[in-house]
Amino acid sequence: MIILIGLPGSGKSTVGRLLARRLQLPFVDSDSAIEQRLGCSIREFFEREGEARFRDEEQALIDELTQAAPCVLSTGGGAVLRPANRQCLRERGRVFYLRSSPEEVFRRVQHDRSRPLLQVADPLQKLRELYAQRDPLYRETAHHVVETGRPSVASLVNWIAAQL
Ligand code: S3P
Repeated sequence: MIILIGLPGSGKSTVGRLLARRLQLPFVDSDSAIEQRLGCSIREFFEREGEARFRDEEQALIDELTQAAPCVLSTGGGAVLRPANRQCLRERGRVFYLRSSPEEVFRRVQHDRSRPLLQVADPLQKLRELYAQRDPLYRETAHHVVETGRPSVASLVNWIAAQL
């Protein structure tokens, strides 16, 4: 089980899809799996039920997915917030932290309206806060830290594949 963690917009889905193709493994995106299960978008669910209920669903799903058939698993950016998830991810897979600076992420996601946590007056400031809070948690959970500032996604995928 190969697991990708990192801030929203750090490239987990893009890298995960390519890595899965390269390793001939299925690709699973935990956000898409949650949306399928809930029958609505994460954004709607956040608005209707609140973040805590979303985290419950996320935790249950991570527990299930990390015990299912091997795959490349891309997780939501907040998956590391709960200690139980951190332990489960680290013990059940090889975890790669895609580390991007808040400024780099902001450039990528500034026009994306699908991320509920970034629907605020100052998304860059929000990303800086998320980074300060989560960077230590991502590092604690990961076996490898991958700097996403590399020249191409292909070279990122190569680097990850070479660690396996
Ligand atoms: C979240 C990140 C999102 C999604 C939800 C909460 C977060 O996933 O799980 O909106 O807390 O950072 P991505 O990292 O795939 O955007």
